[in-house]
Amino acid sequence: MTRVPAYRLNDGTTIPGLGLGTWPLSDSEAEAAVGSALRIGYRLIDTATNYRNETGTGRGITRSDVPREDIVVTTKLPGRDHGHESTLRSFEESRTRLGLEYVDLYLIHWPLPRVDKYVDSWKAMIKLREEGLIRSIGVSNFTPAQIDRLEQETGVLPAVNQIELHPLLPQDELRAFGTGKNIVTESWSPLGRGGDLLGDPAIRSVAERHGVSPAQAVLRWHIQLGALPIPKSADPGRQRENFAVFDFELDEVDMAAVGDRTGRRLGGDPDRHEEF
Ligand SMILES: NC(=O)c1ccc[n+]([C@@H]2O[C@H](COP(=O)([O-])OP(=O)(O)OC[C@H]3O[C@@H](n4cnc5c(N)ncnc54)[C@H](OP(=O)(O)O)[C@@H]3O)[C@@H](O)[C@H]2O)c1
Repeated sequence: MTRVPAYRLNDGTTIPGLGLGTWPLSDSEAEAAVGSALRIGYRLIDTATNYRNETGTGRGITRSDVPREDIVVTTKLPGRDHGHESTLRSFEESRTRLGLEYVDLYLIHWPLPRVDKYVDSWKAMIKLREEGLIRSIGVSNFTPAQIDRLEQETGVLPAVNQIELHPLLPQDELRAFGTGKNIVTESWSPLGRGGDLLGDPAIRSVAERHGVSPAQAVLRWHIQLGALPIPKSADPGRQRENFAVFDFELDEVDMAAVGDRTGRRLGGDPDRHEEF
């Protein structure tokens, strides 16, 4: 089985260097996709309250033969539950839907600066971690200023920042900020949602040179940048393909060719996006 290199997080725990995304799968689709990914060797699974598939994701985990302690399960706090007490309640609801004793990685899904309650949520998450119900706490779609504020007000830095990152949006500044603070950057929509990006001639030619698929070339680019991709696929063949990215290497020219695109977001702008 493929060995996936692990990252050590700033709280001392470890996390596999590639995971499975589950949006927008239904409960039954997520159960099947997670089950098949775990059989292939994936050990990091990404869900969220707002994906409405925590129940299926949890079933895929608890019904698999893989020991629970070998799997890193991520879920996320939705915008409507920002605030101290509501975060405690929302987490408990997620944990119940997942059917798990603890969650490995709990993230604030979006910062919602206009609501301005993410620091209260962060304090609740620190408490849940101290109680052992969460192993690691992190954020998603946070800017450096928002992360600095968490640190200033609580003294606790996120272990992970999960952000939109793909060759159309390489996020150089946010990645450098994460490296400087020892925060692992996870890439969401790492394949650019599987659209035109994978047909790009420059990416196709890098892939051909290495005898791999365009998706594999793009995932390898993430790994060599030091970012942790969580590609979503419900198809066991493509899950296997996305997992087989640890036995070839891109050189500097290949890396530049894959990343040489004009910046373009596929999702929301963290300073403005509101998702409840
Ligand atoms: N934190 C956030 O705000 C946030 C936002 C968006 C997403 N996410 C997370 O990030 C995960 C990944 O992002 P994403 O789902 O938006 O996009 P993605 O992983 O970049 O792309 C997924 C799409 O690509 C297709 N695909 C997968 N592997 C492929 C391959 N080898 N060749 C060709 N097509 C392939 C998939 O179809 P098939 O299933 O048919 O293979 C699916 O349509 C999500 O599932 C979710 O867990 C987080």
